[in-house]
Amino acid sequence: MRVLFIGDVVGGPGRRGLAAAMPSLRERHRPDLTIVNGENSAGGIGITEKTARGLFDAGADVITTGNHVYRHREAYDFLDRAERVIRPANYPHANPGRGHLVVEAGGMRVGVVNLSGAVGLTVARSPFHEVDNILGSIEADCVVVDFHAEVTSEKVAMGWHLDGRVAAVFGTHTHVPTADARVLPKGTAVITDVGMTGSRTSVLGVKPNGALEALITQMPVRFETAEDDVWVMGAAVEVNERGLADSIEQVMVAAPAE
Ligand SMILES: [Fe+2]
Ligand SMILES: [Fe+2]
Repeated sequence: MRVLFIGDVVGGPGRRGLAAAMPSLRERHRPDLTIVNGENSAGGIGITEKTARGLFDAGADVITTGNHVYRHREAYDFLDRAERVIRPANYPHANPGRGHLVVEAGGMRVGVVNLSGAVGLTVARSPFHEVDNILGSIEADCVVVDFHAEVTSEKVAMGWHLDGRVAAVFGTHTHVPTADARVLPKGTAVITDVGMTGSRTSVLGVKPNGALEALITQMPVRFETAEDDVWVMGAAVEVNERGLADSIEQVMVAAPAE
């Protein structure tokens, strides 16, 4: 069973770039399940029903999110209704949406869990305790995790925490890919951050001028989503019949010109 995981899709340029790149990604990686982080899919911050639809149309089977998930109020009802969109599980239980799901893919029941890091981000419960609880209750043949977190130490630690218990831990949130994809000794594929799907002529997806002005002047600046040189970033994992990983391959490709 092969999983293709795509990092934070930033705005319209990211959505269009993903749609344009998916045919060749499908051909190359032959995914049974495609998971896409959509927390930046609406105008660069947040997600709406419309942008989620765009990601599903592009080929996503499941959409994960992160700290920007509640940016658009009109999406709250959608998050409660959507069967294949999840938000970090360790947010307050009463918040819109749910934190994990189980889907059929490649002949397996695949659990998908979304977690938020606790360092530098706001959570209701420890991601380590939360994932232990979920793994104790979920009925699945294998589990993959989107760990949406800020710092490398917490993300690397989560890989070791889950080694041998889940097929893969994909790091997201920083929008910058790391070069540490590997399979840990007990069979869990990990990567600290898969990066983003968006413009590389940018600072994390926004136009460099605005980001620079904000950093240099320390004044509020309206950020604009960057459009040029869109790349699709993620990782592909091969899951064996034991529900663990045989391999992980980083994905970093330029989106074909539209
Ligand atoms: Fe993001
Ligand atoms: Fe984030």
